[in-house]
Amino acid sequence: MRISIFGIGYVGAVSCGCLAELGHEVVGVDVSAEKVAMLAAGRSPIIEESIGELIACNVAAGRLRATSDVAEAVANSEISFIAVGTPSAPDGSVSLAAIDAVLASIGAAIGAKSGPHAVVMRSTVPAGTAETRCIPALEASSGRKLGAGLSYYSNPEFLREGTAVRDFHGPAMTLIGAPAGDDAALLREIYSPIEAPVHVVPYKIAESAKHLANLYHATKLAFANEAGAVLAALGVDAREAFRLFCEDRILNISAAYLRPGFAFGGSCLPKDTRSFLALAEQTGVAIPFLRQIMPSNEAVVERAFAAIAAHGRKPVALFGLAFKPGTDDLRESPYVTLAERLIGRGYALRIFDSSVRLASLLGANRAYIEREIPHIDALLVPDVATALEGAGIVVIGHVSGKDRDALLAALTDQIVIDLAGIGPLAALPGITYQGFCW
Ligand SMILES: NC(=O)c1ccc[n+]([C@@H]2O[C@H](COP(=O)([O-])OP(=O)(O)OC[C@H]3O[C@@H](n4cnc5c(N)ncnc54)[C@H](O)[C@@H]3O)[C@@H](O)[C@H]2O)c1
Repeated sequence: MRISIFGIGYVGAVSCGCLAELGHEVVGVDVSAEKVAMLAAGRSPIIEESIGELIACNVAAGRLRATSDVAEAVANSEISFIAVGTPSAPDGSVSLAAIDAVLASIGAAIGAKSGPHAVVMRSTVPAGTAETRCIPALEASSGRKLGAGLSYYSNPEFLREGTAVRDFHGPAMTLIGAPAGDDAALLREIYSPIEAPVHVVPYKIAESAKHLANLYHATKLAFANEAGAVLAALGVDAREAFRLFCEDRILNISAAYLRPGFAFGGSCLPKDTRSFLALAEQTGVAIPFLRQIMPSNEAVVERAFAAIAAHGRKPVALFGLAFKPGTDDLRESPYVTLAERLIGRGYALRIFDSSVRLASLLGANRAYIEREIPHIDALLVPDVATALEGAGIVVIGHVSGKDRDALLAALTDQIVIDLAGIGPLAALPGITYQGFCW
């Protein structure tokens, strides 16, 4: 395939070398005359393991060249990869100035050629950039419409500097954002020698998954550095503690706790977070990141309350009261906090939770309920139907098994705020469905 790559910095230079090595005819384009001259002479514009040899070999073999002539590069390629910089603007938002400039010049060049052309965004851009910015810009500058001689894909880059060539050949996945009905055959073909699962998803999902990756890496580092500093100040070998922590692939290094939804609670997470913060206080180590955990969790409850309040003061049926399904443990349950918030603001409220109901009738938790939350105990109802009586808003924290089926069958015209993502509710006729994070 004939490929043009716009931006021959860290990402673009690696793509140039690796795609040429896969046998494609590649041309690198940059606004920097110096980088163009270096690549054209077979020298890498970046320092990166094995990229020097890859570039030298492929330039010598005639598969890789460089130019600053956008029109020529687009005219002589079927597909253009964009790998220009997306640095921070002074206000912290992303600057898309280089993206805008490169799209305008690529679009004009597409307008001037006859065959179809595909544009692939490898630069990291925020969710929505494809649909609100890139495609309209390309359509305007090329005079073509998406799907009519013009294609656009998001194809985020996950490589790390230092191991970029290895990462190119062994990514965790190939992620492609595409319009509905387009399975990105062209890109699949280009990446066919790379052994990695290919996911073709809506543009916004692809853009977000890349954004999330870097946000998460930063989050992990902030967590490890702050918690590690506290442990070190307590005389603990933090690296050894972290090594063992990472050995738990079930809960720690896994997809567990990474499904967006409602707040955490229960008898362990809040208590142990607070106690670690208290330890940190004694050491004097600054932990601005960890200090935000509890306020962040409280904000989730507040967001749920605001989502309910946005619909006016309608009677509410709350499904789920314990901090998670299948337990009667009400200690620090965020659903109790939410219920108390609703009661405090004068909402008519009914609550259904089969495990808590059982405990309230006969379990050991009976004493806890009577002592700590008698005002909430009075609102517990015995079944789904009673909970729904007169309810204008149904809030789903958790509900399972036959109760879930009964709820799905009984919903008619209520507003449903789903904090848990329990199932195919959005498709139910009559109801107004609102997912909490989806
Ligand atoms: N560096 C990484 O490890 C890495 C990894 C994954 C994703 N990314 C993302 O990839 C993108 C590129 O990052 P980078 O580190 O390679 O940036 P970079 O600054 O090294 O390279 C960008 C290149 O684009 C060129 N450029 C700017 N405007 C241009 C235009 N109109 N036409 C042609 N070339 C133009 C610049 O001269 C520069 O050579 C960014 O969005 C970044 O967030 C970077």
